[in-house]
Amino acid sequence: MVKVKTEEEIDLMREPNRIVRDCLTFVGERIRAGMTTKEVDTLVYDFIKASGAEPSCLGYCGYPASACVSVNEVVVHGIPDERVLEEGDIVSVDLCAYKNGFHGDGARTFCIGEVSEEKQKLVRVTEECFWKGIEGLKAGTPLYDIGYRVQRHAESNGFSVIRAYTGHGIGREMHEDPSVLNYGRKGTGPRLAKNTVICVEPMIAAGTYRVKVLRDGWTAVTLDKKSAAHYENTLVVREDGVEILTL
Ligand code: MF3
Ligand code: CO
Repeated sequence: MVKVKTEEEIDLMREPNRIVRDCLTFVGERIRAGMTTKEVDTLVYDFIKASGAEPSCLGYCGYPASACVSVNEVVVHGIPDERVLEEGDIVSVDLCAYKNGFHGDGARTFCIGEVSEEKQKLVRVTEECFWKGIEGLKAGTPLYDIGYRVQRHAESNGFSVIRAYTGHGIGREMHEDPSVLNYGRKGTGPRLAKNTVICVEPMIAAGTYRVKVLRDGWTAVTLDKKSAAHYENTLVVREDGVEILTL
């Protein structure tokens, strides 16, 4: 069931989402070659705590960290560890903050130093997929229009859409209805109601969209080991457009 938010609830959601936004900016300014993914996680934990929020990911279904730090062929849910970031890597950082009784959620993919043209294009197109996905989005839009637009943009650039993970509603729970697929048929799906809060998060791969989860139960990697990128914002569906809470 989709829990449409009241204006008061949306106001309460602004703060955790601003913290997510600012934390992603903070990480983006510091992430560099030589840092371990665990050090990235520490930046995230400290930032969220210092903001008076809780890192929602920590302990979520047993997840052991505050951020998902996913390097190159890792699509999502990379567990921070001693892996050292190297020049040429692309790294997606996905994090959630809990404050005021609500969650905020966002992700960015960062380039470490000089990266290949194909990786640069993948990172750029993944962000563009977000913007294409929400083009024209407003109350009354059929839900699967988002996925249709994301998929069309990804595939027209020679990339593929990860199917195994999706965006989602968000609020008092980190994951609420509806699931927000990154592929789909135009004009289908339930119509989005005004004041629905969703996370739109294209996960786009350079090669196959097929993934497998490693034995740690979390880390999702592409089957062909080619890179994937991730870009996510939390937004409110409004009468006449969207209000993005993590920008
Ligand atoms: N932040 C992720 C999302 O976009 C969820 C992370 S799963 C967790 O939905 F276990 F790490 F919390
Ligand atoms: Co999300």
